[in-house]
Amino acid sequence: MKNTNDDLPFDNPISLKESISNSAGYLFWLKNTIENIKKVREARQQSDEGNLEELEDRLTHHLFDLNCWDFFESELLEKVDDTGYVIDKHYWQQLTAELIRAAHLQHEVLAKTISREDAFSTYAELYDSVNGERNFEYISQEIQFIHDTYHLDFSAAKILSIGCGTGMMEEHFLKAFNLNKECLLGIDVSEGMVKVALKRINARVEDVLKVAPEENHWDICLCTANVLQYLPQSQLEKAIQNIAHITQTGGCFIGDFITPDHPIRAYPNVLRSKQIFLLRTPLIVEKAHNIFQQTKLINVSKLDGDFRITYEGEHTRYLPSLWKLRYLFRKYFARVEFFDAITLKPLEAEDDTSPSSRYLVFAQKRPCGKK
Ligand SMILES: C[S@@+](CC[C@H](N)C(=O)[O-])C[C@H]1O[C@@H](n2cnc3c(N)ncnc32)[C@H](O)[C@@H]1O
Repeated sequence: MKNTNDDLPFDNPISLKESISNSAGYLFWLKNTIENIKKVREARQQSDEGNLEELEDRLTHHLFDLNCWDFFESELLEKVDDTGYVIDKHYWQQLTAELIRAAHLQHEVLAKTISREDAFSTYAELYDSVNGERNFEYISQEIQFIHDTYHLDFSAAKILSIGCGTGMMEEHFLKAFNLNKECLLGIDVSEGMVKVALKRINARVEDVLKVAPEENHWDICLCTANVLQYLPQSQLEKAIQNIAHITQTGGCFIGDFITPDHPIRAYPNVLRSKQIFLLRTPLIVEKAHNIFQQTKLINVSKLDGDFRITYEGEHTRYLPSLWKLRYLFRKYFARVEFFDAITLKPLEAEDDTSPSSRYLVFAQKRPCGKK
């Protein structure tokens, strides 16, 4: 059947702002524009009229026009509460579905070259503003607490930060303890993250599961913001074993984790900074008797004058019980202690969760000569 061009939006007598204002809201306008782009694309397959290409370009550029920002922002904020949790679930479902479609269109337009295999690649550029800065305070507090509690001396230590991300925390850590840049190496499996980290610290792309066994000279292995929970569940033990292997006798692991109830207790759908909204749709799933959090992540940003919609894909985190983690750390380390990551109160062996839904693990290899 031949398409007619009658229902294509050729005329553009009004401004973009008017066109959104005249629609039944931003979401409605977004959906309509994406549908129109689809129709124009279909029409282009049947006709090589030059004005169709022009029309497609115009509509696509409308999607990412900065004039849309205020409409997007004000409508979104009406649908979430003050703490960032969604009030209108139906709206949220539709909005996120349309934003993912828009993100794919923008991705095509920008012809991004970074591999989508790397779940943190584009996320890296925006990570600090929405996530990094938010985590910064509790992570700095965690490290200071462990330093003071166990009387650690960082001054001559060789420090490895596993899953260093953008290196923001590590840069601060070096300054706070007056340490030389050469004391610390960051490793991360994401090229995007390491690219950002290298502006701050020594870092390289490396998977914690593939660290060479002869690299067994680290005094401190840091692992902040639940890095080990991004590994496939079957690899968690191997990672802990590897870390224990590369940690010197007497050295220690300092890392944090989230509890299995974190996604329902402490995971707002919207995180925002001045120029970025991070939209998160978490799902708790069971696979082979293990629990995972699968989260669709969308960044909507207006950095450098561009309205960017980036679908960061689905991030999966394994949510092991505290018991399992205690068991695994005890298997490979001599001294293992758990604390709530915010109150810094010790967690007992029988605890199922922690007050803040984050917890800190201190694990030490047996000091020389001790059994
Ligand atoms: C939530 S981010 C935490 C980043 C940083 N530690 C912080 O405190 O902000 C998790 C990081 O773990 C990294 N990661 C995931 N799997 C990894 C692996 N197998 N080896 C090394 N890094 C990994 C990710 O690329 C990501 O940068």
